[in-house]
Amino acid sequence: MLRTKIAGIGYYVPEKVVTNHDLAKVMDTTDEWIQERTGIVERRYGKKHKETTTSMAARASEVAIKRAGISKDEIDFIIFATLSPDYYFPGCGVLLQRELGITNTAAGALDIRNQCSGFVYGLSVADQFIRTGMYKNILLVGSEMHSMGLDFSTRGRNVTVIFGDGAGAMVLQPTQEDKGVLATSLHSDGTYAEKLAFINPGAHGGYHAAHMDEAQDFGYSDAEYGEMFINEHMIENGQIFPYMEGQFVFKMAVQKFPEVILETLEKAGLKKEDIDMLIPHQANLRISQFVQRRMGLRDDQVWNNIQKFGNTTAASVPIALCEAYEAGAVKDGDIVCLAAFGSGFTWAGAVIRW
Ligand code: ACO
Repeated sequence: MLRTKIAGIGYYVPEKVVTNHDLAKVMDTTDEWIQERTGIVERRYGKKHKETTTSMAARASEVAIKRAGISKDEIDFIIFATLSPDYYFPGCGVLLQRELGITNTAAGALDIRNQCSGFVYGLSVADQFIRTGMYKNILLVGSEMHSMGLDFSTRGRNVTVIFGDGAGAMVLQPTQEDKGVLATSLHSDGTYAEKLAFINPGAHGGYHAAHMDEAQDFGYSDAEYGEMFINEHMIENGQIFPYMEGQFVFKMAVQKFPEVILETLEKAGLKKEDIDMLIPHQANLRISQFVQRRMGLRDDQVWNNIQKFGNTTAASVPIALCEAYEAGAVKDGDIVCLAAFGSGFTWAGAVIRW
């Protein structure tokens, strides 16, 4: 039976370290508040004008491609997950193709806009393409340059302190061995789309206003919405930044993480006792600790790096998995479980035999 194996993995985080104390200099927050609520101590920010979501993805991809032992022109499909693309369009997939110097135009490029679950969604998409024999070397990337789009005033503190920049990548190949992706699960519930959202610029023109909070809508008239993606009201009112109803998201996350992990294990014919390593999306250390307790896992069975990188959204799962691999915490034959929950809401799980 054809399966999808991880032939190579890599990650990249920018050099610049931004501590909680650094953020406390520009907004009303404290190291104590951030650490207590999220576990985050510091995060990385890309070098503005020198690094982008795409360039960081390229650095992570180069490592993954090298470890896979292939040439970049053997890549026959690119899947790029991000919520902070370089451009509104075209997507980062083609920009990455250019940045890596991939001249093979038979390589398709697909962008995934699923925020925190984007990488795990991408893994599931790649798995289908590989198992049907359509592609042989898929480059799957999650990358985020959040620092370009955050509100660094006190108004944005509940969101801004959480996020960091970085990228993770995998090369995925077919294998006849009993290893690789054993099962994936994908979920969505659009009911709460605006609870964690970045709605402007966009083509909504207030259409979804009934679902928006005041901070997102401000009750504009049609004329005030105008006929463009963005207008001066949105800029003046700070409605050009991510919005999150944190406690609501938190409550959903602690419910959905365990559900999707158990569901995916069951599909793979496994139980929670079979997990060797859980790689949760790094949303909040408190969420990961809750999930760890629910799964009955030891500290060394859950990889957490949010303390030093913050929440890197689509990049968080591959960065954490790559770190665990490089540290020797993931070994041949291990059952590795990936799980993510975020904006949409969308959530997803994957079980891999390493
Ligand atoms: N520093 C100091 N005070 C703050 C900060 C800050 N950075 N942020 C908020 N506060 C204040 C608030 O103003 C509020 O003050 P008030 O009581 O005087 O009104 C108080 O702290 C509590 O605010 P909450 O937002 O209720 O804080 P909470 O305990 O919920 O923690 C947090 C916020 C960390 C964001 C948490 O809700 C959380 O982690 N939620 C889940 C995040 C998540 O999983 N996101 C999904 C992935 S992200 C993605 O998909 C893109």
